[in-house]
Amino acid sequence: MFFPEPRPVMSSLAILRYPDPRLHTVAQPVAAVDARIRELAAQMFETMYEAKGIGLAATQVNVHERLIVIDVSEERDQPMVLINPEITWASDEKRLGEEGCLSVPGIYDGVERATSVKVQALDLDGQLRTHQAEGMLAVCIQHEMDHLLGKVFVEYLSPLKRNRIKTKLVKQQRDDERYADKARAR
Ligand code: NI
Repeated sequence: MFFPEPRPVMSSLAILRYPDPRLHTVAQPVAAVDARIRELAAQMFETMYEAKGIGLAATQVNVHERLIVIDVSEERDQPMVLINPEITWASDEKRLGEEGCLSVPGIYDGVERATSVKVQALDLDGQLRTHQAEGMLAVCIQHEMDHLLGKVFVEYLSPLKRNRIKTKLVKQQRDDERYADKARAR
């Protein structure tokens, strides 16, 4: 059972939940790394940290531009922003690992990903940088970049599993809304 906590008054953004069709929007490149983009990145970090996530794509907060925030560190002190990211190299070696997603709450399942990748992206100063990533970071980058293409990790699972997840989340969302309505009515 899932009980939503009252939403604190902060600038955190609402996260779209699967199977919301907006999650399948293909993001457009960021045209300019300006104050608007820096503000969006700051709000996305706040949203991600609050939700205890390790990565968040702009798609998930209903902004369809190629921007990702990530922090896979234990201490939550290594924020990373990828703007207009492109994978320039991926290892042939792949690994099946357990994944979850802030847009698919409570669901974890195995997805096969390259174990290491090289990604080129702009940072918040508009500088093009190359990152070599392995392990959890490599997985996270691939997962978040899928979001920018409108792809959610459950799409790697069998149709049977995916439908089961869809049904569960639709029901959960309905229960949450009913709970929220009751809380408001009180
Ligand atoms: Ni995700």
